[in-house]
Amino acid sequence: MSQPFLIGEAMTGGYGGGADILHGCTIAVERGEIAVIVGPNGAGKSTAMKALFGMLDLRAGEVRLDGVSLGATSPQERVARGMGFVPQTHNIFTSMSVEENLEMGAFLRRDDIARTIAQVYELFPILGDKRHQPAGELSGGQRQQVAVGRALMTQPRVLMLDEPTAGVSPIVMDELFDRIIEVARTGISILMVEQNARQALEIADRGYVLVQGANAHTGTGAELLADPDVRRSFLGG
Ligand SMILES: Nc1ncnc2c1ncn2[C@@H]1O[C@H](COP(=O)(O)OP(=O)(O)O)[C@@H](O)[C@H]1O
Ligand SMILES: [Mg+2]
Repeated sequence: MSQPFLIGEAMTGGYGGGADILHGCTIAVERGEIAVIVGPNGAGKSTAMKALFGMLDLRAGEVRLDGVSLGATSPQERVARGMGFVPQTHNIFTSMSVEENLEMGAFLRRDDIARTIAQVYELFPILGDKRHQPAGELSGGQRQQVAVGRALMTQPRVLMLDEPTAGVSPIVMDELFDRIIEVARTGISILMVEQNARQALEIADRGYVLVQGANAHTGTGAELLADPDVRRSFLGG
């Protein structure tokens, strides 16, 4: 990997003045590829995503987008530069309609957003059917679609998803993964944290196992799935 599209390299840092959570952690994704971060609860997966998105001050290491160091660039500026982020929690406005959520997602844009809204409804047809319904009334899987759709409204070049399939059934998970693959095929890089490690690594071009804020294993999804250590410790054998 000479020049990944997005890379957080040797990231070290924590929250406020607190202890370091990330210890020299490196995460990268190539153009149009799917990278997946797995690891135990509390490993720092969400923290690594926040660091990449500029929500954490790094004490060492750096984040580069398309070869450009982002320094202390704000999350809003990172969105303007092509990063989309769906956080693990509170990722939709429940009292607003589906369509209002999508419109909110486009807050930085000054051009016509109708085409992008139509594209989101093509990707997730159920959202078109429910466009006037409050997002809070949707099922868990549909809410995650709203969250992903909202992030797509800024036309990101890299889409970061923190546990997009949390709390959904296996069927809904498969469906969501299929849609995520579809997004990647349009050339958008995907960086995703997943609890469903085995299924996520199956669709991953690159996988990262994080343990205690550090890289424990890195490889292609297939390599990690075949690694006896990874299987025993993180995939249930
Ligand atoms: N906002 C926060 N302030 C302080 N510590 C936090 C915050 N969020 C997470 N942490 C701590 O950072 C560590 C890693 O958490 P997190 O990145 O959420 O792990 P994961 O997403 O892998 O489950 C945990 O010890 C957690 O308690
Ligand atoms: Mg997390």
